[in-house]
Amino acid sequence: MRGLALCATLQGMAASAQDLAGHGGPVGALAIRDGQVLSGGFDTRSILWDLDTGAARQIQHFHEGNVTAVAFLPGGMLATGGQDGRIALWQGAVERPTFATPDTNAPIVALSLAPDDATLAAGFGDGRIARMSLDDHSVQDHQAHQGQLTGLAYLPDGHLASVGDDLRLSIWDRASQLAARAGLAARPNGLAVTEGRLAVVFADGALRLYAADGSQLPQRFLTDRPLVAVAAGTGAVAAAAIDGTVWVLEDQDLSERFTVSAGADPVWALALDRDTLLGAGNDGTIRRWSARDGERQGQSATQASGDHDDGSRGARVWRACAVCHSLSPGDNSRAGPTLHGVLGRRIASAPGYAYSQALRSMDIVWTRETVSALFEHGPEVYTPGSRMPDQRISDPRDRAALIDFLERASR
Ligand code: HEC
Repeated sequence: MRGLALCATLQGMAASAQDLAGHGGPVGALAIRDGQVLSGGFDTRSILWDLDTGAARQIQHFHEGNVTAVAFLPGGMLATGGQDGRIALWQGAVERPTFATPDTNAPIVALSLAPDDATLAAGFGDGRIARMSLDDHSVQDHQAHQGQLTGLAYLPDGHLASVGDDLRLSIWDRASQLAARAGLAARPNGLAVTEGRLAVVFADGALRLYAADGSQLPQRFLTDRPLVAVAAGTGAVAAAAIDGTVWVLEDQDLSERFTVSAGADPVWALALDRDTLLGAGNDGTIRRWSARDGERQGQSATQASGDHDDGSRGARVWRACAVCHSLSPGDNSRAGPTLHGVLGRRIASAPGYAYSQALRSMDIVWTRETVSALFEHGPEVYTPGSRMPDQRISDPRDRAALIDFLERASR
């Protein structure tokens, strides 16, 4: 997928202060836990965000193709799944995963951590489910659906629920034996677990709840458009339609808490916890609302830009960089290296930052001209293999203003 025209323009990314913007293309996977957000993009990267400040802390770059599923694991580990069918496990801001399964022919659709924290399950586009021991990384798989698997999640009792193109909801016990099965009325597009019950979204616009034995509970037709994403939080379930509408419903009776619109494009990924609702889609921006009342919420970009925001045109362009780059000496706490002293500096030479092999093997000195070229052509073209997501600044006046700003602020 690399090299496709999925490049975000910074003008579009500047959209709104409270959003998490940094991916270089659509975002298809989201997870939230303890004030951190993990996102997976069509730009083949996953990003770990700090919800409080809106800063990107780490970028993982490994998969060939879209990152299609993400999960938080115990002990600060992260899991990513890709279109390449590989599951990768990550610990810290490192260049390579600590472990990755081999290439398979089928993309990963969903990842789910077992309630005992010992097993990670993955659902595949060819209908398989694989279970990986987080202890010894051994993997066992079985054919769960005919055709595509479209949703997967653990129940609190350790059983695993899955839905697929074969219009079946299946509940698997710990030995991957079928414990219950139900026929579905329409194509399921996703599954989440809430308070021991299953919330499934469908192409016919319905959200249906199921008990752990597969019996159907309340259902609600939300729209005549397909629902394409679902997430569950404490006491609530969120569903998104292909037209960008997002509903948050009480998980007991599916009564509506609120509805928000994320714009006209599909929302491909949702995440929900007690406080926060996140939604993301084609424009790569992760939007953020209060889970209680749908109020748009978040930090301001000036917080990310720090003291350097002098209100100039260049400072405004810089906001898109500040999520990943500090301007303070030695501050590599964000996903990218500090750009303190960047002009005149050799590529990949900020002390204490773990650059990619690709950047370390390049021969560039950062000057007005080379920084401008980096964002005229985009990192994917100018510094191929860079972990920095692809982005361009198409207006030469914006590039010049950014570099004027860097000349002032990066000293
Ligand atoms: C989503 C995170 C992210 C955003 C947004 C981002 N960068 Fe980066 N940038 C990185 C990462 C990560 C690296 C290091 C790449 C590597 O090691 O492969 C990097 C590297 C760089 C480098 C090379 C630094 C060096 O020491 O060689 C420059 C220059 C740079 N970025 C400038 C910018 C500017 C200017 C912007 C805004 C227009 C920006 N970046 C936006 C993540 C980001």
